[in-house]
Amino acid sequence: MIEFKADKVLASGISKEIKAEIEVPGDKSISHRAVMLGSLAAGKSYLSNLSLSGDNSATVAAFRKLGVRIEKQKLSGTGKDFLIKGVGLRGLKEPVSVINTANSGTLTRLIAGILAGNDFFSVLSGDKYLNSRPMKRIIEPLSLMGAKITGRNGGNYPPLAVSGGGLKSIFYEVPVPSAQVKSCIILAALFAQGDTVIYEKKATRDHTENLLKFQGYALKVETPSIGGSLISVKGRAGNGPELKPLDINIPGDFSSAAFFIALGILSEGAEITVKNVILNEKRTGLLKVLEMMGADVKTNVTGTVPEKTGNVKARYSRSRLNGISVPREIVSDMIDEFPIFSVIASFSEGKTIVSGAQELRVKESDRIKTVVLNLKKAGIDVKESEDGFEINGRPDLIKHNSNGVINPKTEGLTKLNSYGDHRIAMSMIIMGLVLKNRKLEIGDTGCINTSFPEFFDILSKILPFKVSASKNKF
Ligand code: S3P
Repeated sequence: MIEFKADKVLASGISKEIKAEIEVPGDKSISHRAVMLGSLAAGKSYLSNLSLSGDNSATVAAFRKLGVRIEKQKLSGTGKDFLIKGVGLRGLKEPVSVINTANSGTLTRLIAGILAGNDFFSVLSGDKYLNSRPMKRIIEPLSLMGAKITGRNGGNYPPLAVSGGGLKSIFYEVPVPSAQVKSCIILAALFAQGDTVIYEKKATRDHTENLLKFQGYALKVETPSIGGSLISVKGRAGNGPELKPLDINIPGDFSSAAFFIALGILSEGAEITVKNVILNEKRTGLLKVLEMMGADVKTNVTGTVPEKTGNVKARYSRSRLNGISVPREIVSDMIDEFPIFSVIASFSEGKTIVSGAQELRVKESDRIKTVVLNLKKAGIDVKESEDGFEINGRPDLIKHNSNGVINPKTEGLTKLNSYGDHRIAMSMIIMGLVLKNRKLEIGDTGCINTSFPEFFDILSKILPFKVSASKNKF
């Protein structure tokens, strides 16, 4: 069950066998990009199922500040819920005040690419968590292209001050597996002189590429013989054709669906289907790993343009889950799912090893630390490593500790914390719903708004309880 206590949530074991079909709101990554690329298009774009999360409302506010009209349509549910009056590649206005990027790394890094291409001054600043996330990774390529960007802490942390314009093209190999860095350079390249070529050793999520292609932009993506992905972007340097407007229905967010997929697998007798969710392989590494562990999860594809979309059905299969070593090449395809994956691994027989995942240290929290801290407090046998963690899980964790004896820690109340990280908060709530004879209290859960303000609404439909969560205004 779920109980609310100010910004704390008490989660305890459910006895009901959940049978449910749900939908989750629009994908956060695509929502950011659709607002950005709709704003830069020449003409009216229509978006439906746009994510109303805190991160995405910050993106809408940022582009309004840059002079773009973005309106919520009166008649929603028509497939055209938001109207963006795109200003074209040369139409953004210098903002008169600081652009607030809230908790969003995607907004900060992607908009920095766009601002770098525009001949005006702007400042980006977010909340205390965002303002401690590394930005050198984007400042380096943008500076090579000719933008002037300074920031706190020797230029690594926001606030960032951007003086853009006059960009030249570059060849750049992205040194960390990051779709945010890649997308930042692609967006800057739209404004540069000449063709920019970007190489990533391991292809990361490609929503920017997919949307730009959908808008008829001259962008080429190749797989070279050495592997990875090579992206060439034609620079328009202030002339040349504009981007075509978008008219899209944004598929559900796989990262939000993942919490319900986990609940379906772990909760006795459950069967949960998440419909109309994005199934882009660079996002669904979790499904591959779950299959390796023996989980009962099935997908069926219902659409492919501009992104592969479909339904995911997760059935109770906790008793047959085995621990695994997560293949390193899958890490970036499930980068946002490690917190909820750690919960699934805690209930899987034997050892699960995550390595090569050092990027987790620079997410909304240091997710290696915050996962390990919380699981340890919950009585789970977990070890931290430099670039991951190791969990010794048990399907009967519900009653026993790792030595097989009744765990004193399974009685009463265990206090955990989100450390301001939305995905840690939701993962620990799901864990609390699966554990029996005890309650997990998760502190600082307001951050759930960052990506998934509808989380409790959806949970309350499948496990009746009263909801008192807040909503964003657009
Ligand atoms: C995102 C890319 C990922 C992911 C983030 C969203 C995106 O970050 O963790 O939540 O929309 O491009 P990195 O690309 O920096 O790994």
